[in-house]
Amino acid sequence: MDLKGRHLLQPMDFSVEEMDRLFEVAERISANPAAFADVCKGKLLATLFYEPSTRTRFSFEAAMLRLGGQVIGFSEPNSSAVSKGESIADTIRTVACYADLAVMRHPKEGSVSVASRFSPIPVVNAGDGGHQHPTQTLTDLLTIKLETGNFDNITVGLCGDLKFGRTVHSLIQALLRYSGVRFVLISPDELRVPEYVRESMQKAGAEFEETRDLLKHLPELDALYMTRVQKERFFNEEDYVRLKDSYIVNKAKLATAKEKLMILHPLPRVNEISTDVDSDPRATYFRQAENGMYVRMALIMELLGIKEEPVCK
Ligand code: NCD
Repeated sequence: MDLKGRHLLQPMDFSVEEMDRLFEVAERISANPAAFADVCKGKLLATLFYEPSTRTRFSFEAAMLRLGGQVIGFSEPNSSAVSKGESIADTIRTVACYADLAVMRHPKEGSVSVASRFSPIPVVNAGDGGHQHPTQTLTDLLTIKLETGNFDNITVGLCGDLKFGRTVHSLIQALLRYSGVRFVLISPDELRVPEYVRESMQKAGAEFEETRDLLKHLPELDALYMTRVQKERFFNEEDYVRLKDSYIVNKAKLATAKEKLMILHPLPRVNEISTDVDSDPRATYFRQAENGMYVRMALIMELLGIKEEPVCK
């Protein structure tokens, strides 16, 4: 149960107990952030973003800075030696000479895994193409835990781009480890979950339904995980334009939903949640974004092996 020095490429890299430990640490940090303000003093985080990001990169950087560490990195590969044709293997080996931990986002599936094989420092996958996004899953799970207390026997609706949405793939796989989670997968036919995700649900014996109809299933849901249609992964503009507004949740549509429904979204949102939902107590997405920073603080501490309880101030 020691995360020190480990890589995080997909949620299953950590056991349920290891994740629980991260959630515990995250909760302790959020209750008293000032007590953790120096625990990473002298440590350096590298953020290697080959694809745009606001939340994930900023929340990692904010997490490290709030722990008293420092940050280097790029958010635009053209500004680094990558534009000269450097390989991922060489980039990570070089970065490892300077930093203690690397967070990487890349448009190509599997590329962060390649980097991890050459890296003497922990590498965290901050999203590889349409594949996986494990730290968003930590964020999502912590949010569900804080809002409902546990994960067992909940009905989770995932809606939107289930094909290219990497946060969806990671979240489903992580939730399969809890008992009695039921999935309602709501998408246009073209954007259904990839076969490997469907197979993992079948293998786990999970109850799941694939449907196009959000309104029909809304009343059953304990959590609704909305996603944007992933424009950057489409091969042609025409398909994107046709599918982009397939689902738009607004206040009026929520009339039939449970009073305790959690509306989640990894963000950024485009049109899929109307802004009139923001003031509804069921809108959980901005709290979710905040939880993302705390759980990344916990992750950084654990990967760096910083265990000691901070002195209470
Ligand atoms: C997600 C991602 O990058 O996959 N964003 C995020 O990290 N919060 C979701 C998205 O871009 O739609």
